[in-house]
Amino acid sequence: MANAPAAVMKITLSVIKADIGSVGGHICPSQRLLGAVTSYVRERARGLLIDTYLSSTGDDIAILMTHTEGVRSTRVHRLAWDAFVAGTEVAKAQGLYGAGQDLLKDAFTGNVHGMGPAVAELELEERPAEPFLFFAADKTDPGAYDLPLYLAFADPMNTPGLMLAPSMGKGFRYVIMDVDHTEGDRIIELDAPEELYAIAALLRDPERYVVESIHARSSGAQAVSASTSRLHNIAGKYTGKDDPVMLVRVQQDFPATGEVLAPFAMGHFVAGGMRGSHQVPLMPVRLNSTISYFDGPPIVTCAAFSMREGKLTEPVDAFAHPFWDRIRAHVADKAVEMRRQGFFGAAMLPMAELEYTGIVKKLESLEGRFRVRPEP
Ligand code: 13P
Ligand code: 13P
Ligand code: MG
Ligand code: MG
Repeated sequence: MANAPAAVMKITLSVIKADIGSVGGHICPSQRLLGAVTSYVRERARGLLIDTYLSSTGDDIAILMTHTEGVRSTRVHRLAWDAFVAGTEVAKAQGLYGAGQDLLKDAFTGNVHGMGPAVAELELEERPAEPFLFFAADKTDPGAYDLPLYLAFADPMNTPGLMLAPSMGKGFRYVIMDVDHTEGDRIIELDAPEELYAIAALLRDPERYVVESIHARSSGAQAVSASTSRLHNIAGKYTGKDDPVMLVRVQQDFPATGEVLAPFAMGHFVAGGMRGSHQVPLMPVRLNSTISYFDGPPIVTCAAFSMREGKLTEPVDAFAHPFWDRIRAHVADKAVEMRRQGFFGAAMLPMAELEYTGIVKKLESLEGRFRVRPEP
């Protein structure tokens, strides 16, 4: 077959993330813990993974893997799960807080969906140049990416590529999940720009509607995969925040890197912070950052990569640039300003989203003390 076109290589990017214990509260994993998970993955990668990148964002450890096994691969998911189980023993041995926090099931059952860890996966036909971004956020939940994804892929005020780049002018297809639905994945597909108002009507409520993936309508190629797991929906009670990860392919048919990063300069308010129960602005921070103020503020990191045949370049820290120092100062001001009103009104999440049952019991205990005053 002398003239057959060269086969395009199909590569899968898988990122699986869990909090399995951290130092000094919910701050960050210990060096020994991160080292143990990294060694575990690297020692077993041969014959399965092409490349790996391990990192921490706040108290979460993310394992980014490239391979050719496709999404939801049992072998790949089992490797990550087993690495977290092995790491949990180190966390226990060191007395880390919340050892094994996100491992909600005792036995591995085929893939990690519904077991606690966050997952984002994307199978792609590798372009001659394959730039992509890997986001990880701590002390918030999957809806944190809704606003940045709306702006980056549907709003020409943010993304001039929607006007300027011919293929992007065809728009993008959003797959949005109703994460309140716990019996199976309840999803809807909506096309931007025609159905922009419908997309906006859903994403207005990021605690319930979460962008799962975005696809270029010009080619059908997938641009985005974001994690959608809500831990309290799995465990039925508070277990931790559902700190989300996301993969975004950039350039050519997709938004440019800068168009994807730009919305994070807003420092929008997200659910998270202390006890997973508040509205605090999302701060873009350097790779491997820790947690501090008010068990927050919620943070997001971004590692930019290029890839060839599944081999990754070194990560470039997309939020390390001096520009973001100014943004961080602004986000810190917003966080302090909101915190001044403590538990009142918009500062704390609505009852249905509160991560603690203590307040429900407290209100129940007051029921009997209410009385309706007789008319005078
Ligand atoms: P505790 O386990 O001490 O309640 O801490 C949980 C926490 O800080 C989550 O917000
Ligand atoms: P993590 O989910 O990151 O462990 O945070 C728990 C929390 O709410 C800390 O206040
Ligand atoms: Mg934690
Ligand atoms: Mg966390």
